[in-house]
Amino acid sequence: MDGVTVIDHPLVQHKLTIMRKKETSTASFRRLLREISTLLCYEVTRDLELTTMPIETPLVAMDAPTLEGKKLVFASILRAGNGLLEGMLDLVPAARAAHIGVYRDHETLEAVEYFFKAPEDLENRLVIVVDPMLATGNSVIAAMDRLKSRGAKNIRFLCLLAAPEGIKRFHEVHPDVPVFTASIDSHLNEKGYIVPGLGDAGDRLYGTK
Ligand code: URA
Repeated sequence: MDGVTVIDHPLVQHKLTIMRKKETSTASFRRLLREISTLLCYEVTRDLELTTMPIETPLVAMDAPTLEGKKLVFASILRAGNGLLEGMLDLVPAARAAHIGVYRDHETLEAVEYFFKAPEDLENRLVIVVDPMLATGNSVIAAMDRLKSRGAKNIRFLCLLAAPEGIKRFHEVHPDVPVFTASIDSHLNEKGYIVPGLGDAGDRLYGTK
């Protein structure tokens, strides 16, 4: 599928299977999401530009590789996005974080924004938006709209599971934003859940219902 990268690393796929199982506890789900997010972060940042800086090792001087450009921004779509954000910050501790509060109205399935906080200078940074589930696409489309209106130009979207319907709709509105996911599942059901999916990611992460 154009504009979509499926991260099929065996460790990602193995951990995802455990997360999908309905008997997996909240504690295990949370730990696995944190672990998997570091692996996903590794893949989504694989092509970042490098430059070099002069350093001295205990033996010699050398020009050593270092990340080019401004610090990354990881933008979490609350609340389940925080489960991915934590592991990503483990891997890139200097990254900035944005939080976007969007909830899904269970009747209309439309996105409603209730919180937005992001670093000032988004235009010169790579922004990686994270949300475990790309279902209808409504929340992430709303989050992208907001980030773009705040100047973000270089954006990627990282999720754990995506529904084909969500990818299609998302790319109709934001064709410039590449999607990275661990799996493209079968379909969305009539309630907007991804099938086979893993249930409600926020509920499974925080033990709510
Ligand atoms: N959000 C979730 O948490 N799960 C789904 O299956 C769809 C949207």
